[in-house]
Amino acid sequence: MCGIIGYIGKQKAVPILIEGLKRLEYRGYDSAGVSIIDGKKIINLKSVGKVAELENKLSDSKEILGTIGIAHTRWATHGKPSDQNSHPHCDCSGKIHLVHNGIIENYLELKSYLLKNGHKFKSETDSEIIVHLIEEFNKKLDFKEAVLEALKKIRGTYGLAIINQDEPEKIIVARLGSPLLLGVGEKEFVIASDASAIIRHTDQVIYLEDGEVAELSLDNYEVNNIKNKKISKKISKLDWSMEQARKSGFPHFMMKEIFEQPETIQIAISGRLVVADGMAKLGGLRDVAEKLRHLEKIVIVSCGTSYYSGLVGEYFLEEYAGIPVEVEYASEFRYRKPLLNERTAVLAISQSGETADTLAAIREAKNKGALTLGIVNTVGSTIARETDAGIYNHAGPEIGVASTKAFTSQVSILLLLTLLVGRQRDMTFVMGKRIASEMAKIPKLIEKIIKKSVEIKRIAKKYIQYKDFLYMGRKYNFPIALEGALKIKEIAYVHAEGYPSGEMKHGPIALIDKDFPSIFIVPKDSVYEKNISGMQEIKARGGKIIAIATVGDKEIKKHADDVIYIPKTLEMLTPLLSVIPLQLFAYHIAVLKKLDVDKPRNLAKSVTVE
Ligand code: M6R
Repeated sequence: MCGIIGYIGKQKAVPILIEGLKRLEYRGYDSAGVSIIDGKKIINLKSVGKVAELENKLSDSKEILGTIGIAHTRWATHGKPSDQNSHPHCDCSGKIHLVHNGIIENYLELKSYLLKNGHKFKSETDSEIIVHLIEEFNKKLDFKEAVLEALKKIRGTYGLAIINQDEPEKIIVARLGSPLLLGVGEKEFVIASDASAIIRHTDQVIYLEDGEVAELSLDNYEVNNIKNKKISKKISKLDWSMEQARKSGFPHFMMKEIFEQPETIQIAISGRLVVADGMAKLGGLRDVAEKLRHLEKIVIVSCGTSYYSGLVGEYFLEEYAGIPVEVEYASEFRYRKPLLNERTAVLAISQSGETADTLAAIREAKNKGALTLGIVNTVGSTIARETDAGIYNHAGPEIGVASTKAFTSQVSILLLLTLLVGRQRDMTFVMGKRIASEMAKIPKLIEKIIKKSVEIKRIAKKYIQYKDFLYMGRKYNFPIALEGALKIKEIAYVHAEGYPSGEMKHGPIALIDKDFPSIFIVPKDSVYEKNISGMQEIKARGGKIIAIATVGDKEIKKHADDVIYIPKTLEMLTPLLSVIPLQLFAYHIAVLKKLDVDKPRNLAKSVTVE
């Protein structure tokens, strides 16, 4: 939610900030803005809409030569998308400018205090109060002390970057609950909400922790805590490449990321899946191996697509590792009184590693004494750092707002976890080896499905006029029905419901008529016949059906209007295959409707507010 970037160095700041904003745009695209220190003044430009609008505005205005600046791309929370509500915000004097990612919970209380002290507000945002608070304290304290004092008064979350016309060779940044990285270059620094905006300048980064404040000058940086005590920080190397953050010839990031899945799954399992031993080796869990052996329960906490991968994991772990699993929406978990103890592991699944609800769930679990684990894609993210142990996806940056490659990578790692925990318990060597050797084939099988993209586009064309879809699957493919429905909802704005196919006759079948098609995930598995009965019930009511079926299944054509075939694999591994045509189907429908696939309306890639 919201992307912030700042630059201090010898190069012109505007191109660097705009380039960075484009990389961060997936975090929010309601409006964008920059503030640049240009000689003795600060130039501030804002625009409603995407970063391109701001870029146009900048190209129409006089060239800005300043080499220090901050910028922001907004996902609106307090106040509608408008120029006034766009960041950077400035104080009454216009000298202090600030960008903010997060939410200030006590902003009304602080605003009334500031109003009483004569401050004038231009926006409806919570963020603007911070800059006025700094201005207020700056009457008596120096700039940095004023920032620290303001932070002490704030309740909520923030990633902040602040500049001050009176101290023009400086950027102050601060973090509490919203991600912030400091890229350390040759006599230059780039600060940003995530690595994608930094990688083109440097791969040397400092991950700021909650409660840390950094002061950046042209050739130095200092990190302190909120009490102004100096903290020594480690510089880490980013494991993302510039190439990974580009579209590489694909029309959209989403398509690139769908096509990358054979590789990202391969990366997830490489060196971890030991086919010969029917085992998995997970280095990130080595330190907690003993605790895993004695676990009584795993609770998976996650949101959105990551929640659905958790549901697949539940089927895996209960059936093959013999351990009870609960999967919880992180947003619900944090408000329940979950029954946890030291023999429970709470496993967070998160692509971004910054999802506020998932993070809060992990913190709650820690408080209750549970072991906390993570399956996280973004290296160095908050969830990765706060969990006791975990496994990285290493799937590279996922830029498309709709999650695709992260999902299959998460499912692959859950499969590895199942092998690890299962073999510690009563999974036999023969079973372990069978699963492991079939898993090793999955990347090649996905390559075959991806080649069907053109065929799936042709089917998408046939169904483009429909406004509603029912997605159905059973057992391992029930979570895939949910994920398929989510994909088409979020990028094609088509109403879709995911259901366990056995539930259809308990309600949803009432919706079915010739204008309400269904997508049935119906591989040749242990519930095949039951799915066929469900399809017949739909057909009998005039509903159209697209089936996702196993190659060689000739029977299926009798029951479906269109069929997309996936290769044969073990029943438990079918979700890794059946999800691919559903990602492609949603993608093609959205492209045919000329929608902005990578940046669907109202959404942001990483939901860092509650
Ligand atoms: O970064 P996370 O995996 O924690 O994000 C969770 C959800 O916000 C995310 O999966 C969201 O539902 C995506 N838009 C789904 O495509």
